[in-house]
Amino acid sequence: MFKIKKKNDYIIINDNFKYLYNFLKKNNFYNIIILLDNNTKKFCLNYIINNLSILKKSKIIEIKNGENHKNIYTCIKIWEKFIKYKIDKNSLLINLGGGVITDLGGLIGCLFKRGIKFINIPTTLLGMIDASIGGKNAINFNNFKNEIGIIKNPVITLIDLFFLKSLPKKEIFSGLGELLKYGLIFNKNFWNIVKNINFKKKIFWVKIIYKAILIKKKIVDQDPEEIFGIRKILNFGHTIGHAIESLFLYKKKYISHGEAISLGMICESWISKKINNLSNKEYKEICNVILKFYKIKKIKKKYYNKIINFIENDKKNYNKKIYFSLLSKIGKCTYNKEVKKKLILISIDKMNKLYK
Ligand SMILES: NC(=O)c1ccc[n+]([C@@H]2O[C@H](COP(=O)([O-])OP(=O)(O)OC[C@H]3O[C@@H](n4cnc5c(N)ncnc54)[C@H](O)[C@@H]3O)[C@@H](O)[C@H]2O)c1
Ligand SMILES: [Zn+2]
Repeated sequence: MFKIKKKNDYIIINDNFKYLYNFLKKNNFYNIIILLDNNTKKFCLNYIINNLSILKKSKIIEIKNGENHKNIYTCIKIWEKFIKYKIDKNSLLINLGGGVITDLGGLIGCLFKRGIKFINIPTTLLGMIDASIGGKNAINFNNFKNEIGIIKNPVITLIDLFFLKSLPKKEIFSGLGELLKYGLIFNKNFWNIVKNINFKKKIFWVKIIYKAILIKKKIVDQDPEEIFGIRKILNFGHTIGHAIESLFLYKKKYISHGEAISLGMICESWISKKINNLSNKEYKEICNVILKFYKIKKIKKKYYNKIINFIENDKKNYNKKIYFSLLSKIGKCTYNKEVKKKLILISIDKMNKLYK
């Protein structure tokens, strides 16, 4: 069992629900709502209820799975149910799911009656190491990713590795993208651990997850509201990665978040080589590792304008200039680096050429 504490919020890893049990006993909530999607209802709900019978009386709100539902229309439907269930300030919202549920549920909890308490129980690898850590909650708007959001931590983030058992392989690979990113931006040792993950052998996820959370928290705690800048390094791979994700949303096709940002990391590593002193040797190493885990998805030239259009809306931009977080070497990332549109498009050309 691991416990990471910061002010009033806790991240608990594999404690057999003891901490949550005590928390629920102590607080005596008027209502408990469990927000989940069709998959987490099927694979995760029974497990938490069997472990915590106190949750048997919870109200269940189910949404359809997938990024397409992380929007304002879903929020409205859920808030309508909150009103029907007479949810008051002394109610608790439990977000049981991947990043879509914790991002959406966090926002819903923060805004309802100016905020009710919420807990995250992430059920995907990406949720455990990233989406449920750091307090960012958001929904997509008009095809733009995470356009409307708020920064607030849940009272507890409860991580239980049981949930990884039912998780499809492609979702494990999605989380892997963020793990690779942590190594690249902050910790070369961690990069060496993650790049050598071998899916044919036993993987000690609990240690990897614990280390990943410590890295994310170390970065976020220096700049919780993204005011000073350092938090921006977490966006490495995401400027182009989010544009790729948005393009897939626009085309109504599926790409996992981790896969999109891994492709983004290939493009942004090439830009890092061009303007931020990343060595060619390290650039090649990054491409080889990412290609070991993911296949390139070619971006057709007819979509280049769309990609730029999405990037122009990136949250790191200001004064109409596009800013990136770029690597200077493996384990070190700098931010607020202006990049011209032409260079972005060449980086996508370079990524397309790696297609086999
Ligand atoms: N807030 C943040 O800091 C942050 C960071 C990274 C990503 N995100 C957001 O997270 C989202 C992606 O999260 P995700 O990859 O977890 O996606 P997701 O929530 O869509 O989950 C992926 C799929 O796995 C299913 N699933 C979840 N848990 C399962 C389980 N235990 N067994 C079987 N199936 C299960 C879901 O139903 C879904 O179909 C994106 O919207 C991204 O923007 C947020
Ligand atoms: Zn991400």
